[in-house]
Amino acid sequence: MKLLFKNIKQLIQVREKEISFVSGKEMRILPTIDNAFLLVEYGFIVDFGKMEDCPNIPNAKIIDATGRLLLPSWCDSHTHLVYAGTRENEFVDRIKGLSYEDIANRGGGILNSAKKLQETSEDDLYIQSKSRLDAVVKLGTGAIEIKSGYGLTLEAELKMLRVIKRLKQNYNLPIKATFLGAHALPLEFKNNKEGYLKLIVDEMLPKVAKEQLAEFIDVFCEIGYFSVADTELILEAGKNYGLVPKIHVNQFNAVGGVQVGVKHNAISVDHLEEMRNEDIQSLKNTRTMPVALPGCSYFLGIPYTPARQMIDAGLPLALATDYNPGSAPSGNMNFVVSSACVKMKMTPEEAINAATINGAYAMGVEQEVGSITKGKLANLILTKPVNSYNYLPYNFGDSNIETVYLKGNPIV
Ligand code: NIG
Ligand code: FE
Repeated sequence: MKLLFKNIKQLIQVREKEISFVSGKEMRILPTIDNAFLLVEYGFIVDFGKMEDCPNIPNAKIIDATGRLLLPSWCDSHTHLVYAGTRENEFVDRIKGLSYEDIANRGGGILNSAKKLQETSEDDLYIQSKSRLDAVVKLGTGAIEIKSGYGLTLEAELKMLRVIKRLKQNYNLPIKATFLGAHALPLEFKNNKEGYLKLIVDEMLPKVAKEQLAEFIDVFCEIGYFSVADTELILEAGKNYGLVPKIHVNQFNAVGGVQVGVKHNAISVDHLEEMRNEDIQSLKNTRTMPVALPGCSYFLGIPYTPARQMIDAGLPLALATDYNPGSAPSGNMNFVVSSACVKMKMTPEEAINAATINGAYAMGVEQEVGSITKGKLANLILTKPVNSYNYLPYNFGDSNIETVYLKGNPIV
C-alpha cells in the first residue's frame, strides 16, 4: 500500500500549497525538485522532497526513478470519448475538398454520429468507449471529462450518460460528465428548433438531473447550431438543476458566446479558435477558464487558439483533446501539449501547466489532481530516461512514458 519513488531526476509541477489555476506570467513557472523522492500511501501523495531528506519507509515498494521524470497525469477537460463508430470517410471527403460545413449540411458530421449511436446498444457503446479510455489512460491521462451530445433523443442522450456513469464506477480516475443535448439540431426538428429546445429543457434535463448523470451543461454555441439566446436558455435551465456551464464557443465564428459563458459563471469556455479582442478582455479577472483544443485545429485545418495573445493579456489557459469522431479523433494529450508548443508558441512550462493544473480546474477536480501536492491522488506519469521536460513536446509523436499510475497503481 506504500510506494516510494527514489532518485527521481526531476519531480515536476510541485505545488506545496493548493492552488486553483495559474494565469498570465505565472504560467511560465513550472516548479520542480531535482533528485527527488515521492511517497504514496493508499493511493495518495503523502510526502515528497529532495533525496537527501528521503525517509526510510519499511515495507514500502521502492521504485528507482533514476534518469526519469515524474509528473502529475494529464487532465483532459474536454472530450466526447463516448461515441459509436468512426467517420474516416468524412475525413477523406475533406481531403478531397469538402468542408466540415459541407459535410454537416449533407447530413454528415454530428448527425452521422448520432445515427450510429442511436443504433448502438448501451453495452456495445460501453465496450467501444472503454477501449478508448484504456488507451488514453496509457497515454498519461489521469482525469477526464466526457460529454453526451451524439444521442440527440431523450433515450440516446441518457444511454451516453449512463455509459459515462459506468466508466466512473469502473475506473480509478476522476471522470466528470457533461450533458450536451444542444450539440446539433436533429433532422426531425430541422424546422422546429423551439421544439428541440423544449425537449431538452422539459424532458431531457429533468431525467439527467434525477439520475444524477451530469455535473456540467454544455451547448454548441455557433452559427448554424445554437445561438447566443438559445445558449442562455439552456444554461439557465441547466443551472436550475445545479449543472455548471461549460460550453463550446468561438470555434468557427465569434458571436458572443464567451460573454454568455462569463455572464453565467461557466467553469470553462472551450475552442476559441476565433477570438476578438473583446473576447479576450471579457475573460479577464473571471473564474472562467479558457480551453484550447489544438488537436481540432490540426485535424480540421482551422486557426489555433491565439494562446500567446491570451496568456500575454494575463489570462489562464487550459489544453484538452476534444477527442471525438469528427473534429479530433485522438485522445493523446502528449500530442496536444506538443502542438501547443509548436503551433501556439506556448513554452513547455505553459503547456504543462495548461494540461495539468489548469485542465483540472476546467473540470472542477483541481483539489484532487493536477499537481504534486500532499493529499492529492497519486495519478502520475513516470517518463522514460530523458534529458528534461522540454524533450516531451520536442519528441512529438513518440511516447516517452514508461509507466502510468492511477491512485498509485501501475497501469499495464
Ligand atoms: O468539439 N464543435 C462541436 N462538437 C465537436 C465536434 C463534433 C463532431 O464533428 O462530431 C467539437 O469539435
Ligand atoms: Fe468538443
